[in-house]
Amino acid sequence: MAVDTIATTPLAVADVPRLVAGLTLEEKASLCSGQDFWNTQAVDRLGIPAVMVTDGPHGLRKQAGAADHVGLHDSVPATCFPTAAGLASTWDRDVVRRVGEALGVETRAHDVGVLLGPGVNMKRSPLCGRNFEYFSEDPHLAGELAADLVDGIQSQGVGTSLKHFAANNQETDRMRVSAEVDERTLREIYLPAFETVVTRAQPWTVMCAYNKVNGVYASQDPWLLTEVLRDEWGFEGLVVSDWGAVDDRVEAVAAGLDLEMPSSAGINDARIVAAVRAGELDEALVDQAATRVLTVVARALEAAADPGTFDAATHHALAHEVATRTAVLLKNDGDVLPLDPAAADDLVVVGEMARTPRYQGAGSSQVNPTRLVSALDAFAERGLDVPFHPGYVLAEAAGRPGQDRDDAELRAEAVTAAAGRTAVVFAGLPAVDESEGYDREHMELPASHLAILREVSAVARRTVVVLSNGSAVTVSGWEDSVDAILETWLGGQAAGSAAVALLLGEAAPSGRLAESIPVALADVPAQLNFPGENGSVRYGEGLFIGYRGLDATGADVSYPFGHGLTYTSFEHTDLTVESDDVTADTAPGDVVVRVGFTVTNTGPREGVAVPQLYVGRPGSAVTRAPRELRGFEAVTLQPGDSRRVELTLTRRDLSHWDTATHAWVVEPGALEVAVGASSRDLPLTATVDVVAPEPVAPLHRYSTIDEWRRHPEAWAALVDAMGDAAQMFDTEADPAMAAMLSAIPGIKVTTMGFSDGLTPERFEELLTRYGQA
Ligand code: BGC
Repeated sequence: MAVDTIATTPLAVADVPRLVAGLTLEEKASLCSGQDFWNTQAVDRLGIPAVMVTDGPHGLRKQAGAADHVGLHDSVPATCFPTAAGLASTWDRDVVRRVGEALGVETRAHDVGVLLGPGVNMKRSPLCGRNFEYFSEDPHLAGELAADLVDGIQSQGVGTSLKHFAANNQETDRMRVSAEVDERTLREIYLPAFETVVTRAQPWTVMCAYNKVNGVYASQDPWLLTEVLRDEWGFEGLVVSDWGAVDDRVEAVAAGLDLEMPSSAGINDARIVAAVRAGELDEALVDQAATRVLTVVARALEAAADPGTFDAATHHALAHEVATRTAVLLKNDGDVLPLDPAAADDLVVVGEMARTPRYQGAGSSQVNPTRLVSALDAFAERGLDVPFHPGYVLAEAAGRPGQDRDDAELRAEAVTAAAGRTAVVFAGLPAVDESEGYDREHMELPASHLAILREVSAVARRTVVVLSNGSAVTVSGWEDSVDAILETWLGGQAAGSAAVALLLGEAAPSGRLAESIPVALADVPAQLNFPGENGSVRYGEGLFIGYRGLDATGADVSYPFGHGLTYTSFEHTDLTVESDDVTADTAPGDVVVRVGFTVTNTGPREGVAVPQLYVGRPGSAVTRAPRELRGFEAVTLQPGDSRRVELTLTRRDLSHWDTATHAWVVEPGALEVAVGASSRDLPLTATVDVVAPEPVAPLHRYSTIDEWRRHPEAWAALVDAMGDAAQMFDTEADPAMAAMLSAIPGIKVTTMGFSDGLTPERFEELLTRYGQA
């Protein structure tokens, strides 16, 4: 049945409950899955139209005609912005929000109700094939920036889909694998970016992941989809499945999965109906799902009534501006950059990627760009006739899958041309290396690119490398032989012009690394358990992903998290830290610590500083990373200008997830505050004492003597019951003996013959009175 993507029939959100009440069970069940690959189900009888949802996240991928079976081909032209790996490197909320607004305008103009993105999964391993689509290895940075993107998109009256919820951190076996993650790691590393976006920006929809989390498919996990997402975080929107992620549709409805995508050809709708009729599924849950689907439809129809248009040239200009902000200048020895356009005669450009840019990743996020500018085009537009030598053959250009091909003749030509000149070498990852659906096997550049780098840098007077890749590549084998490295990530359709603007100093690089560049893949703790086997991947490194792991093991890095140079320099001074006491009344969002410092542009030109605030808890009773990002700000400064930056830490920012009480807890004691330009360049540090109630774990059967001591009333009762034997535990009478015995579980005192008074029965009575049974 052909149905328009969005009809203009008005349907107010307020009408939805009445409409749902008038639907048959079959109609309600039909709303719980898509009508086809991209549309929600229409209900013709009541004039309820279908609404289109489509990818995302860094450009609209709306298939113009009928969707092919995997929904990948022929999409309408849309602006291709830098992918999330690049957006995150801006560390700039305002830039990200502006991209969101432009995405929202295009989504609306194309009659699409929901843009399927952004993805905020953590970069657990540099090898994840989809890292280019994700923001960071750090949940604070990812959550904050993604919330701005969602805000920007939704400000245009269209929705977003926050994905892939949760623990979808690899592509290997993604449709079955169980991510085995401990509770604290989930709470502190893998869930917070989702939580921030949900609580700050209320995305219209959240997309559940394909994988299982601790043995349960994310699509049918009531803990994830209802308890955490709705009850704890207050999510008000719709949960949609990733495309094909539903396993047991009835369980999924019960767990809180509202919409299955794409269509299940009616099969799962019939199962829902049968389960309700058999009394196995509460019809109220089907009503709830249908209500949420129709609420999204109603919201989308409001925008559809006035889709508006967009100016492709304006959005292209924005794509260019943003791409100048996403690139990270990793190295710039001897200030080789910016290049002097007047000395263009000295330049030689090497590398096919200068002519055929690699600017986006493969898979569901692949956009059909409105324009595409290569670096060579951009040099030419500026009237700079620079000699170009491809040096290697791109696999794509060679019309075959696989690695980019070395070509001895092309390489020799490039090397001869580069001798004694300033060589700008464009290198990166071939498209086949980074894609949805599979992971990388290593972090190296292709051999053909490495050969060019090695040979050109050996003869060139100076070598500047421009990298295009969606996730970190190893630089340790070759970086010493080059003078500058500009990491442009996958910079979108204006990646070429942005790179040239940065090389020539029309704009200054201002990106900072949102992911660490390790010296070697083997330094990354997660690699010990990646990508798992037999349908299971154990997150054995726990909290220690990204810089948390590299800092904890003390591994050297090529470039640390947060690093990025520009054409000026900055100084951080005058740190002040003030802290309030944490009391039982301090709410999670209340500010506890205020941090202030001054950033000064000490160099010759305007630049964007990105001061970063990290915290550590020396002496903590729980496992901690040495430092964790908790604040940042992008600050544009003219030469000589200073700005006072004030950042705050809330109660939640100071908390860890306590697995005994299943809650966020603030430990009292020393808090190390560090401010600077990267996770390993922190010139300002201060230690303050956090005053907070000592966390006390509830008593249970196996609580130790030491743990009983922390409950004064219960301890007094236990001492009383033990009689004389209690002296053994007297820390003043015999401190060494008391220390040795303090780890004995209380229950053992009843059976080890220490005390006649503390019988098993008496112990049970005390437990009932003071503890959890
Ligand atoms: C991807 C999603 C995407 C969906 C629709 C899935 O394969 O994992 O990110 O939104 O397809 O294209």
